[in-house]
Amino acid sequence: MEIMYILGIETSCDETSIAIVDNNKNILSHKILSQIEEHTPFGGVVPEIAARAHINYLPNLIKEALSEAQIDISKIDGIAVTSGPGLIGGLLVGLMTAKGIAASLNKPLIAVNHLEGHALTIRLTDKIEFPYLLLLVSGGHCQILIVHGVGSYTKLGSTIDDAVGEAYDKVAKMLQLGYPGGPAVEKAALKGNKHAYVFPKSMVGRDNCDFSFSGLKTAVKRTLDKIDNLNEQIIVDLCASFQFTVGEILKDRISNAIKLVKQNNIIIENLVIAGGVAANKYIISCLKEITDSNNLTIKSPPIKLCTDNGAMIAWVGVERMSLGFTNDLVTEPKATWPLM
Ligand code: KG4
Ligand code: ZN
Repeated sequence: MEIMYILGIETSCDETSIAIVDNNKNILSHKILSQIEEHTPFGGVVPEIAARAHINYLPNLIKEALSEAQIDISKIDGIAVTSGPGLIGGLLVGLMTAKGIAASLNKPLIAVNHLEGHALTIRLTDKIEFPYLLLLVSGGHCQILIVHGVGSYTKLGSTIDDAVGEAYDKVAKMLQLGYPGGPAVEKAALKGNKHAYVFPKSMVGRDNCDFSFSGLKTAVKRTLDKIDNLNEQIIVDLCASFQFTVGEILKDRISNAIKLVKQNNIIIENLVIAGGVAANKYIISCLKEITDSNNLTIKSPPIKLCTDNGAMIAWVGVERMSLGFTNDLVTEPKATWPLM
């Protein structure tokens, strides 16, 4: 097999990330520059600040990635770039940079759907064949998909309001635990009683694979509003009870998805959890209960590759280019781009 080097660029949200990945699954270099410090004072990502930060960081990050990989830019075989979904300013910065490099080197451009990045990362880090079931849970996305192959997906369900990570971030914000909220809520929950408060398990028992987290978030807010003397114990109990409810919802939804896959006579061996929330050990343990009872294996990329990163984009570049799927230089960024 001839070696292929792909440069991956990710700028769809608040991480500026660059990676060089080859078709032997080696990550030759990987740079992730989080903009958390820039956005923290605002309690969330400010699109204009994010776009400007990408402009500042990107050129140096590309140079550093090439030098770390000890690869001359002329040896790069293709440029993979997140072209959506995401914040349009950041997408524009990444895509225009990628087009410039592709045009100057006369090498192919691969316009990558960010969600396909999360969906296929597991094939970079593990040996796993299609098809598999995917639970994609991040700050912006919450969906269950069957991954049949590169560019071939069936969506079984998605959130009708907030994404899971978004619910974690909002609960963290109301409890003043900081941003991003997921890791802070998970840490606090470890010290709390998960049965201290009872919150609504939206969608549980319904015959579909959709999610809803807005009601849960509001229930936490209502409970909090009624508390006069908020203290450390109440905060950790609220976090634990919130997280317990999220776990119960995810278990129910994934059970339905597995049933649906079986009803359609699709043979799967793996449930893959991707996106930032896959870093949550409690959630993974909840889902493992379901996979164990269905003879499935649960797989998840390492945490660094679960949250937004350039390696997952470069890897989609490898997968797509190996199949001859490349894009021309008139490709436009898409703020919304369903993975179907
Ligand atoms: O995939 P990602 O980096 O960006 C998006 O595409 O959204 O995911 C970030 C999201 C944030 O909402 C963050 O709070 C959540 O993932 N997250 C977690 C944890 N680590 C990150 N949520 C729950 N528990 C965690 N340990
Ligand atoms: Zn993401």
